[in-house]
Amino acid sequence: MQASRETFGNRFAVVMAMAGSAIGLGNIWRFPYIVGEGGGAAFIIVYLFSSFFLSLPILLSEAVIGRRTGANTYGAMEKLAPGTGWKWMGLLTVISPLIILSYYSVVGGWSVDFFAKSLTISFIGESGEQVSSLFGRFISSVWGPLACHTVFLGLTALIVVGGVKGGIEKFSKITMPVLFFLILLMVAYSLSLPGSKAGVDYLLRPDFSKLDAHAVASAMGQSFFSLSLGVGTMLTYSSYVNKQENLIYTGVGTAIFDLLFALIAGFAVMPAVFAVGLEPAGGPGLVFSTLPYIFAQIGISAPWLSGIVSILFFLSILVAALTSSISMLEVGVAFLMEEKGLSRKKATSLLFLAAWLLGCLCSLSFGPLSEVKLLGNTIFEFCDKLTSNFLMTFGGLLFTVFVGWKMKKSEVYDELTNGGTLRPNVRCFGVLYFIIRYLAPAVIGIIFVTNLLG
Ligand code: PHE
Repeated sequence: MQASRETFGNRFAVVMAMAGSAIGLGNIWRFPYIVGEGGGAAFIIVYLFSSFFLSLPILLSEAVIGRRTGANTYGAMEKLAPGTGWKWMGLLTVISPLIILSYYSVVGGWSVDFFAKSLTISFIGESGEQVSSLFGRFISSVWGPLACHTVFLGLTALIVVGGVKGGIEKFSKITMPVLFFLILLMVAYSLSLPGSKAGVDYLLRPDFSKLDAHAVASAMGQSFFSLSLGVGTMLTYSSYVNKQENLIYTGVGTAIFDLLFALIAGFAVMPAVFAVGLEPAGGPGLVFSTLPYIFAQIGISAPWLSGIVSILFFLSILVAALTSSISMLEVGVAFLMEEKGLSRKKATSLLFLAAWLLGCLCSLSFGPLSEVKLLGNTIFEFCDKLTSNFLMTFGGLLFTVFVGWKMKKSEVYDELTNGGTLRPNVRCFGVLYFIIRYLAPAVIGIIFVTNLLG
C-alpha cells in the first residue's frame, strides 16, 4: 500500500510547508485581537516563552514520530506501539484537524468575500458603524457565507489533490515568500499613518497588571494553535521529510517564521487601529470589521491607495489561511490513502464533503442556527473551543508523553541527531529530552485541566 511515498524536495520546501501550516488565520486574525485583549507586550513575552519552551518541544515530538515511521498519524502509532490503544490517539488526530478545517474554512470564506469586496466596492465615506454592520450582516446571512466557505474549501481540496510535491510543496514555496512581502508592505503602510505610534507603544510596552492566569493560558493556547500542534499536522508533514534532514533546524525555522509573522501582523494591524482611534480589544471582528473602515479612512485623501492596500491585505489573509487549511486536510487524506487504500482524489473528495457539511452548520450558526446551542455555545464556538481548548492540548500532551515515555530514548536520540551525526543536536539533546519527558507534559497537563475546569 505504501510502495512509493512522496517526500518534500529540500529543506526550504519543508520549512515553507511547515511554516505555511503554522502561519494562518491564527497569526493575522487571532493574534492581534488576543494580544489586544491580553494587554499587549506583556502577553507577547509570555507567548515568546511558551513558543520556545513548550510548543517547539511538542512540534519536535510530532516530528520524531512522523519521520521515524514515515506514516500517517494512525499508522505511525501502530508502527511504534503495535497492538496498543495508542492507535486511537492516532485516529483522534485524524478527526481533530477535520473539525478545525470545517470552521476554519468559514473564516477563510469571509476572507474570500472581503477580497472580492475590496476588488469591487469602496467603503470610503462610510462610518465605522456602517462598515462593521456590513460585516455583521454578511456573516449572519445564509447564501453568501456558504458560497464563500465552499469556494475556500474547494481551493483547499484542489491543492491537496495535487499531492505532496505538486500541490502542497509547490503552493507553499511560491506563496509563503510573497506573503511575507505583502505583510511587510502592510507594516510600512500602517506605520506611516499619523497617530500610529500609540499602536507601536502598545505592542512594545509591557503592562504586567493585565497579565492574569487567563491571559497566560490564552497565550499558551494561542502558541499551540499557531504552530498547528496536537492534531497531527506536523506529524504528517514530518512523515514527508527525508532522513538526511535536520529536524531541529526545520522545527526551529518553522517556530521562528511563525513567531516573526505573528509579530509583523501585530505591527500591521495595531498601529492602524490606534491611528483611527479604535479599540485594540475589538475581539474576533477586529480584522474584518475594523480594517476595512481603516482602509476607507485613509482612502479619503488617496482613494486608489485604500483600494490597493485593502486588496493586498485580504489576499494575504486568504493565502495564509489556504497554506494552513491544506495541512489540516492532508492529515486525513494520508490516513485514508495509507490505511484504507483510497486514491488521493477519493480521499480528498470524501473529507471535503465531511468538512463542508460541518462547515455549513458552523456558518449558519451566525445566522438562522444562532439559537442552536451546544453546552451554551453556538456550533461555530463549540467546534472552536472543543479543538483549541481541549483536543489540541490533549493531543500535545499525548504526543509528548508518547515520545518521552513510550518510545525508547535511543530512538528519539537517533531521530533528533540523525544517528549522532549532527553535533549541535547531540549537545542540546539532553535539555530537549528533559523538556519533552517532564516539563512539557506537566505544563500542558495543567493547561488542560485548567481549561476543563474553567
Ligand atoms: N496554525 C494555523 C494558524 O495559525 C492553524 C492550524 C491549526 C493549522 C491546526 C493546522 C492545524 O492559523
